[in-house]
Amino acid sequence: MSHLIAPSLLSADFANLISDIEMLNKSEADWFHIDVMDGVFVPNISFGQPVIKHIKKHAKKPLDVHLMIVDPDRYFADFKNVGADILTVHYEACTHLHRSVQAIKALGMKAGVVLNPHTNINVLEDMITELDMVLLMSVNPGFGGQKFIENTYSKIAGLKNLILQKNANTLIEVDGGVTLDNAPKLVECGADVLVAGNTVFGSSNPTETISSLKHF
Ligand code: DX5
Ligand code: ZN
Repeated sequence: MSHLIAPSLLSADFANLISDIEMLNKSEADWFHIDVMDGVFVPNISFGQPVIKHIKKHAKKPLDVHLMIVDPDRYFADFKNVGADILTVHYEACTHLHRSVQAIKALGMKAGVVLNPHTNINVLEDMITELDMVLLMSVNPGFGGQKFIENTYSKIAGLKNLILQKNANTLIEVDGGVTLDNAPKLVECGADVLVAGNTVFGSSNPTETISSLKHF
């Protein structure tokens, strides 16, 4: 499978979302990456279910919803109802992670776990076969436009090994500081999905940038 591109709407123009959504619909983007922040788990606040509900009305591609919130289980059904297709929760925010993952799946969504830069991939050893995706943060979550953390390359490679060793069917997504320069190496190390906010929406031609992230 060739890798997937998931532009992050966090860097879109919130006063003109429809034009960015339509641009993504027509582009080679595979998913919409949607960042939900609560100002507690991360220092920033973004947007929640009411906005996602409206994005869903226009988006023609799956919604990949990244929850950067404490106690996310309270809202799984809400996110399903507003149209999330893939729901990812932070390892660092879930005391009973196994239960959380089962709850997401039971609602009919794909389930993913996110690891912060400081969290070792080994914490997922006992449940990797249950996960549709692991999202590796390559910046500390909370803001777009930050600098990529280089240690991510070896983390991707280690995670890929674990997935192969356990015969799991788990995608590896990378989020934070993804650029046209580091994208090829990320895929070479084993990344299946690349999230890109600033690289896409900060470029003068987002459609072309998505295409460049897709083909190299
Ligand atoms: C950061 C978010 C990212 C963010 C990525 O907490 O999870 O999805 O939008 O933005 P860039 O690609 O600009 O680093
Ligand atoms: Zn994200």
